[in-house]
Amino acid sequence: AVAGGGALAGCNLITPEQAGRLLRSDLPLPERFTTPLRIPPVATPVAPGRYLMAQREAELEIVPGTRTRVWGYDGVFPGPTFDVRRGEPIAVEVRNELPAPTSTHLHGGVTPAESDGYPTDLIVATAHADAFTPGAHSHMAVAADQWRLHDGGREYEYPLDQPAAGLWYHDHRMDFTAPQVWRGLAGMFLIRDEEEDRLGLPSGERELPMMICDRAFDADGDFKYPAVDDSLLAEPGVTGDFHQGVEGDVALVNGTPWPVVSVDTGTYRLRLVNASNARRYRLERDDGGDFVQIGSDQGLLARPQRLKTLTMSPGERFDVLVDFGGHRVGDRVVLRNLLGTGEMAELLRFDVDRGGGTGYTVPDRLADPVEISAEDSVAEREFAFALTNHSHGQMWTINGRPFDPADSLASPELNTVERWTFTSDFHHPVHLHLAHFRVLTRNGKPPVPEDAGWKDTVDLRPYEFVEVAVRFTGHRGRYMMHCHNLEHEDMAMMANFDVV
Ligand code: C2O
Ligand code: CU
Repeated sequence: AVAGGGALAGCNLITPEQAGRLLRSDLPLPERFTTPLRIPPVATPVAPGRYLMAQREAELEIVPGTRTRVWGYDGVFPGPTFDVRRGEPIAVEVRNELPAPTSTHLHGGVTPAESDGYPTDLIVATAHADAFTPGAHSHMAVAADQWRLHDGGREYEYPLDQPAAGLWYHDHRMDFTAPQVWRGLAGMFLIRDEEEDRLGLPSGERELPMMICDRAFDADGDFKYPAVDDSLLAEPGVTGDFHQGVEGDVALVNGTPWPVVSVDTGTYRLRLVNASNARRYRLERDDGGDFVQIGSDQGLLARPQRLKTLTMSPGERFDVLVDFGGHRVGDRVVLRNLLGTGEMAELLRFDVDRGGGTGYTVPDRLADPVEISAEDSVAEREFAFALTNHSHGQMWTINGRPFDPADSLASPELNTVERWTFTSDFHHPVHLHLAHFRVLTRNGKPPVPEDAGWKDTVDLRPYEFVEVAVRFTGHRGRYMMHCHNLEHEDMAMMANFDVV
């Protein structure tokens, strides 16, 4: 497992669960709380409702004084933030100039199946088309007719017929999602609507997108990943003990290592996304202040809730307000991570540099989300997320079956609600494409605060069972559920369902 010393002095604090999956940087770790938080550029349409985005390699200065080669949407990491409105559909033409195929998924989007970013529905850069043979690089059994290749680029359609919410988009290539997201293929996607406008929430400089992830760096300054073949065109998967998921030793927020944010004594709105491959975080303010949660994965909560800590599994989003009204100029507030050890126990620092901020009084009633309950359910299904033995070794599976694009585990009907139970042997953030759900129970007990509101990802913890009411709306077709630990996902923990 992980050898001690260096940046990980005190690594006896590492839990057994972490041992063997923490990847250590070969660079000296960057200094904390010196680099200002970067805000990703906002995507601008090329024509009304039309966007163009090219995936390409670029060199960025992530660690001050060091160049890092990333794979980025428009060459940036995180990719451009989409800032769009409900009821105003958009089309995004995505081009691929990378030496590996890609598929772009809008996580949380109610999207037609053709635009869902299915793992075998790939864009191959024209210049690299000859280098890629579908199936030759997969460790899953995929029939030849399951692959679809687009030459150079393709268009994705997003109807945006869904409430205001903080979504994100990322790569979803079969077998290689984890290394390709690790290299930088992820961005934020904010949908707004009138219900949200009416609240007059903190905006502009007071609304901070925060894509949180961890990375490790190699001696050249590039992202380090335990892949067998760095070209990503040969063997899939990861080497060594990383089948539990890869974690790095550098905390990035919007691609900034341990950033500092200059704030005044007002209220800020944080649009949090856990974009890590495998790492969970438990956030806490070191000043004892609250997070006032106003939104979940799928938009505004009916009522705000005050939290002292906030646990985020990979894929989950939280929309929270933080208030610095009780502070004096010169105060510093560290955002801690109670699940991290060493440097990873802290993520970011707010420096209160100016007085006279604008406070915000949170209304008791935020929104009127659709309400459903267990009684609305027309069918019940159970899905077991577990490591099982297969001919080519152990695999992460759902109901004992490794992913097969030709297989389907359920056929729910459009415009119905079903009760699904997820069981687990480990931490598995369970994510559904298309369909959103409410958490009903955890181990037969009431849900935890982080389960509040409409969700598309739920933090399934070891040996737990979580019951959810899922609503199937919007589109018929083939969609999927999977574990959002990206290494588990690449190691077969995905399954189709067909909305009929
Ligand atoms: Cu964010 Cu299918 O994933
Ligand atoms: Cu998992």
